[in-house]
Amino acid sequence: MRVAWPRELNRVPKEVFFREDVFEREMERIYKGPQWHPVAHECELPNRGDYKTMHVGPVPVLIVRGDDGTVRTFENSCPHRGTQLRTDSRGTGRTIECPYHRWAFNTRGQLMGAPGVQEFPAGFRKEDNGLKACRTETMHGVVFTTLSQDTLDLKTYLGDTPDYIARALGGDGRLKLMGYQKVSFATNWKEYSDNEGYHAPLLHGAFRLLQWQGGKGVQFITQDAHKVTAAELGHAPDNGFLNDPSLIQLFDRSRTPESIVVALFPVSLILKHLDVMTIRYAIPRSVDSTEVHYAYYSHVDDSPELALHRLRQASNLLGPSGLISLEDGAVFNRLHVGATSGGTANFQKGVGDLKALRTTLAQNDEAGNLVRWEHYRKLMGFDRE
Ligand code: FES
Ligand SMILES: [Fe+2]
Repeated sequence: MRVAWPRELNRVPKEVFFREDVFEREMERIYKGPQWHPVAHECELPNRGDYKTMHVGPVPVLIVRGDDGTVRTFENSCPHRGTQLRTDSRGTGRTIECPYHRWAFNTRGQLMGAPGVQEFPAGFRKEDNGLKACRTETMHGVVFTTLSQDTLDLKTYLGDTPDYIARALGGDGRLKLMGYQKVSFATNWKEYSDNEGYHAPLLHGAFRLLQWQGGKGVQFITQDAHKVTAAELGHAPDNGFLNDPSLIQLFDRSRTPESIVVALFPVSLILKHLDVMTIRYAIPRSVDSTEVHYAYYSHVDDSPELALHRLRQASNLLGPSGLISLEDGAVFNRLHVGATSGGTANFQKGVGDLKALRTTLAQNDEAGNLVRWEHYRKLMGFDRE
């Protein structure tokens, strides 16, 4: 497979946004490859038997809290003939029964019984026909899974991001699920994940209106291409345009409001803005379509007032039509339409020396994405011209 990847470090060929063959290779090399993907937070499965369905790239997965309390991830596909086992997004149950021939599994994935088993071949063993487990590890309550046996251990893979994951998730990740919003963007997953700090005060009207920029901030990219942006925000002025200004205020006004964005390679995000804590789980559905599940959380120690405040801010600030993210969806689509013109997407802000990639940047630079693009290019096996 040939992709015309320019020699210049700040240019990315737009053909990678719409080529089907590129998408197929991404599913094999990246999504089924040695990457960890966040698929849930433990609080989404509080009780034994609780489950959630997700996808890792093209592969349907089922995350289950077993009757022993352990959270596991399985392929959501029956080991008999492959029927998808669970179809609802969340639920609870002591057994997982396949509807097709009624094989039944317990919450640890073990096969409990199969109708007609006495007529199966002599060598058939229940022990060999349990659900296919995927490697699963957690960090601050975030459940990660990988489809590859070659993936690094999670702690090494995440590099310096865990402190920021904790900061984004209430300090310690002890959360309660408030709810979800799910949206499908007409864009390629890389156009979705190419979002950066340069655009924030320029695209988003709310950033200007609320004077949210200007504080101290950092941006760095880890060895495995995870990008962290952490910035102090100004207190929003009460300029009278909202009937309820608490929508844009920090609950504890004595603290400094902050924004933390942990953009995990390849596509999902863990974010905090003011009092909103959210994970955006993203699924590449096709070369032209990216589905994002926005999960919003409160903290177990919240007062009822603070929990209500978080609920009010959640989707209103960081949802698909929130004050801070409303315009992104439109741009994701416009990037995708514009990509078909061919040529290259060109990064400029913060690039500096065109001969070296920078892994530490200012919060409003776009050059951090080039480190991710280089990581992507190597994983995909595309040579520069
Ligand atoms: S496919 Fe699941 S029991 Fe047959
Ligand atoms: Fe944005």
